[in-house]
Amino acid sequence: MQRPDPVEPFHAIALSRLARQLEAEGRSIIHMEFGQPSTGAPAAAIARAQHVLATDPGSYWESEPLKARIAQLYADRHGVSVAPERIVLTCGASPALVLALSSAFRPGDVIAMARPGYVAYRNNVRALGMTPHEIACGPDSRYQITAAHLAALDPAPAGVIIASPANPTGTIIPADELAAIATVCSERGIRIVSDEIYRGLSFVGPVASALEFAPDALVVNGFSKYFSMVGWRLGWLVAPDDLVGAARARMGSLFLTAPYLSQHAGLVAMDCAPELETHVARYAANRALMLAALPAMGLTRIAPPDGAFYIWADVGHLTNDAMALAEQLLRDTGVATAPGYDFDPVDGHRFLRFSFAVSTPLVEEALARITPWFQARL
Ligand SMILES: Cc1ncc(COP(=O)(O)O)c(C=O)c1O
Repeated sequence: MQRPDPVEPFHAIALSRLARQLEAEGRSIIHMEFGQPSTGAPAAAIARAQHVLATDPGSYWESEPLKARIAQLYADRHGVSVAPERIVLTCGASPALVLALSSAFRPGDVIAMARPGYVAYRNNVRALGMTPHEIACGPDSRYQITAAHLAALDPAPAGVIIASPANPTGTIIPADELAAIATVCSERGIRIVSDEIYRGLSFVGPVASALEFAPDALVVNGFSKYFSMVGWRLGWLVAPDDLVGAARARMGSLFLTAPYLSQHAGLVAMDCAPELETHVARYAANRALMLAALPAMGLTRIAPPDGAFYIWADVGHLTNDAMALAEQLLRDTGVATAPGYDFDPVDGHRFLRFSFAVSTPLVEEALARITPWFQARL
């Protein structure tokens, strides 16, 4: 007898498919449904890749200089010393998450996570035979897990996935709360997996890494967001000493190595802050435009967008079916958004996620189109 597949497809893909179809029919579509930069890799990283392509046939390879450079990032930005050997280079944050979960936990383990949260957490935990324990998180905790949540779980879960800044909300876990989470987890034997893929994309100052408070945490990161290299499929896992061998063994069997070209380009990208900070400045401008415009549309119940490039908006006063609302909005205005169901299977039917990772003129155009649409429904 066939057992039901525990991994659900990404429902937003249906919306995205419709957006593409309308675009093919000649409609002007603004893509605010994607969680990815609309810009490419830094120019110097592309130049490096072009040179490498012309001179190096490529091989299975793990770049020692890149691991050392990533270790340097933790020393410079977070004041923590990470031995380069603890860094496993991966084909993006997504495989790093799989390595983290499969190295630290076993089938049957319970893994806590915030709801709303990134869809892959729930799906990967289930695919690995573990059990997600979703904690309903609302505005009172900035849609984030707290130390109090973790202290109240009985029995304690084997692990917890945290994300700061988070997808779909963009909210962060303040440093004092992160420290409290680390203390509870250490006392209760809960292993932390911290997804820090939106590191560097903050509008409220520096965001702490879990490694500052929990040296045995597994930290997932990559080049898709801040470094604007989504298609290059490059990321990393920082594993603690007791798990790095397990993570490396899984990397070898599941994926072998990260793409050689991307590793060369990624090393250069890490020293492209002036260019990359122009993206952050654009996101900040886009966020300000959105925050100024949303109240007049009646979209006042939003998560504080501390970082990343998202706004998680409660549209419960308009609908109980965010997918239908997103589809109507798309058909009427050409603005594509992500309905909330993927991120929150319980309450997500009354949320939309707007991504403002597009250009500022496109944000302006999107706001000009959607403002009267929402106002007509006030
Ligand atoms: C929270 C979060 N983690 C991980 C990923 C996957 O990142 P990558 O492209 O590095 O696999 C995403 C992508 O949207 C994300 O939002």
